[in-house]
Amino acid sequence: MRPNLLIIAPGKWSSRLVEHAKSGAANVIVHGQDNYRPESIDYVLSFRPPPGLLKSLPNLKAVFSLGAGVDGFLLGGDYPQSIPLVRFVDASLSAEMTQFVLMHVLIHHRCQRLFDDGQRRREWRQMLLPRRTEDTRVGLLGLGEIGSMVSSRLGELGFQVSSWTRSRKSIPNLKSFAGDGELASFLGQADIVVCLLALTKETTGILNARAFAAMPKGGFVINVARGGHLVENDLVEALDSSHLSGAVLDVFETEPLPQTSPLWTHPKVTVTPHIAAISQPQVAAQYVLGGIAKFERGEKPENIVDVSRGY
Ligand code: NDP
Ligand code: OXD
Repeated sequence: MRPNLLIIAPGKWSSRLVEHAKSGAANVIVHGQDNYRPESIDYVLSFRPPPGLLKSLPNLKAVFSLGAGVDGFLLGGDYPQSIPLVRFVDASLSAEMTQFVLMHVLIHHRCQRLFDDGQRRREWRQMLLPRRTEDTRVGLLGLGEIGSMVSSRLGELGFQVSSWTRSRKSIPNLKSFAGDGELASFLGQADIVVCLLALTKETTGILNARAFAAMPKGGFVINVARGGHLVENDLVEALDSSHLSGAVLDVFETEPLPQTSPLWTHPKVTVTPHIAAISQPQVAAQYVLGGIAKFERGEKPENIVDVSRGY
């Protein structure tokens, strides 16, 4: 008998996942659409399951995350600790994230917004870039699957790259900072800070007034990890005081970003709607079916999260 996979995702997502998963090795059930008995569910695929739902499934064998980040499962504190949680790791997702980060590093580094403004005013404004590429320091908060790809590409473009992580890295041409004790020195030497951390209890609110004060004047922030990493009011204050020169935000404390948020219209902020990279339903469906097949054979798929660590 095929195992039962429960999909818990917004409507447009679940229909595309079902389309790609239905002929595979699992019987697909959609939460909120199909009737099911909780004891019949073997596997779950979701991004942010409703609180308490996973614990109500007594025969659950494993859970798959539709995203790379698993904070939607682990931060609420009600994840059933003994159930394996597999996160989505996909080279095309990392490549899309890398494109997004490189695009915004380059827009900032090449002063493109200034030239856009010049075009609107019909101004022919030739100038040297304020900083040479080899003198521009990009600091990556997080150097996991995605951060590693971003780091290599930035290095190829000639930027100075550093990282801040839990464990120290030893990678040619990368300055590695590790642990809370080295956070301030890391921030103090980064002209552009890119957040690519996992969101855990330890990293929540890490981009705050203290962090911005530690950055050099004129610093620039790109947050593509999670809204929970950033204290939005502290960012606005650091921008308004001209300590920071700008920010690109793809993720927010509340998503969708509320209409009343000052970030929408802030002249120094670029807002995008959590689109730096989107898991492709076809790839995700194949990934999950492959993982289920492994569990059913008694094997372990790759990318099982360390639940106690939070990522
Ligand atoms: P990984 O789990 O591979 O990497 C996480 C990184 O965070 C690691 O380098 C880890 O350090 C670091 N980290 C975790 N906790 C701490 C801590 N307490 N102190 C210092 N460093 C810490 O994640 P991915 O690279 O796959 O993804 C990164 C994030 O990107 C995801 O968690 C998700 O939130 C976000 N994302 C956003 C998308 C979007 O569209 N905006 C799309 C995809 C992902 P160490 O190396 O030492 O373990
Ligand atoms: C992810 C995301 O974590 O899309 O993959 O945010």
